[in-house]
Amino acid sequence: MVYEATTSAPVNIACIKYWGKRDTKLILPTNSSLSVTLDQDHLRSTTTSRVDASFEEGDKLWLNGKEDVIKDGGRLWVCIKEMRAWRKELEEKDSSLPPLSSWPLRIASYNNFPTAAGLASSASGLACLVASLSKLYELPQTPSQLSLIARQGSGSACRSLFGGFVAWREGSDPSGNDSLAEEVAPRDHWPEMHALICVVSDAKKGTSSTSGMQRTVETSSLLKNRLEVVPERMEAISQAIKSKDFEQFAKITMIDSNSFHAVCLDTSPPIFYLNDVSRAIIALVEELNRASGKNIAAYTFDAGPNAVIYALEENMPVIIGAVKKYFPTTEEFEDPFKTQTNDLPEGFDVR
Ligand code: DP6
Repeated sequence: MVYEATTSAPVNIACIKYWGKRDTKLILPTNSSLSVTLDQDHLRSTTTSRVDASFEEGDKLWLNGKEDVIKDGGRLWVCIKEMRAWRKELEEKDSSLPPLSSWPLRIASYNNFPTAAGLASSASGLACLVASLSKLYELPQTPSQLSLIARQGSGSACRSLFGGFVAWREGSDPSGNDSLAEEVAPRDHWPEMHALICVVSDAKKGTSSTSGMQRTVETSSLLKNRLEVVPERMEAISQAIKSKDFEQFAKITMIDSNSFHAVCLDTSPPIFYLNDVSRAIIALVEELNRASGKNIAAYTFDAGPNAVIYALEENMPVIIGAVKKYFPTTEEFEDPFKTQTNDLPEGFDVR
């Protein structure tokens, strides 16, 4: 009998950013956040877990084909330990179950996109690990319950256990048991919503999210203001999603991305994730929105220079056209809209 499970988990891109921990051990955030999980068939992690009584003692992990250490007491180790504990509980209740919790694990995980380039690889990776162990161990836990464990691997990972539009509630319990992910709306609620990912650089980022946000918590006075305004934004963007109000969705998404990068700049020493190309993309989207007389696109940037542009399907050709025109690339990319570069809104003008 082979005990093995394979799962995939997609990347999620936050519209309201998580930036700051009130508890670094349990990974409890200083604010709630909200993201959109991309579709399975694009950026994703795929993880296979296997247990076998005959494996040599100790768990092992391979990341993109290279063996990685599972540090004792580290985040991965914590996730594995917690998942194993849930399995053990089941085995104690039902002695007919094979003792999978006591056998060594072998885990192999692949990302189909550059790791640690600000494309949320830790989010999909940790969510996928937890999902794969949950399948292997046949755990009855719901995605929200699993999100409690994924959160301890990497905060943003808790949101990748759901598709569609997802909130991570900061919670208030010191145990962390109410700091979990919940669905705001399923993917098929707003199928017209698309994300265009503009890879400005696929190099590994300079300041990791983990150390960057801690520095912000310790040194930024602007963060206090951010924490005051985020609850209102969470409420407003959830409403915008529920009522499919792209205008509002875009407004809040862009404001929150800028607010997040402002607190990065307000950190000492400052953290610069955006570069000149990122800023040129911001200018382009702002001008597209101005010339269109409404928000047709929403940019957002995580801990790196790459842009994610959210837009409704009907507006994607114009947006892709503008990006192709102003940021020509020699690399061919998959363009489902077969966009021509000449259909920009009247009066559109970037310098
Ligand atoms: C900018 O989840 O990578 O992408 O919890 O320390 O692992 P850790 O941080 P991580 O931070 C993500 C930060 C962000 C915003 C977001 O995804 O909400």
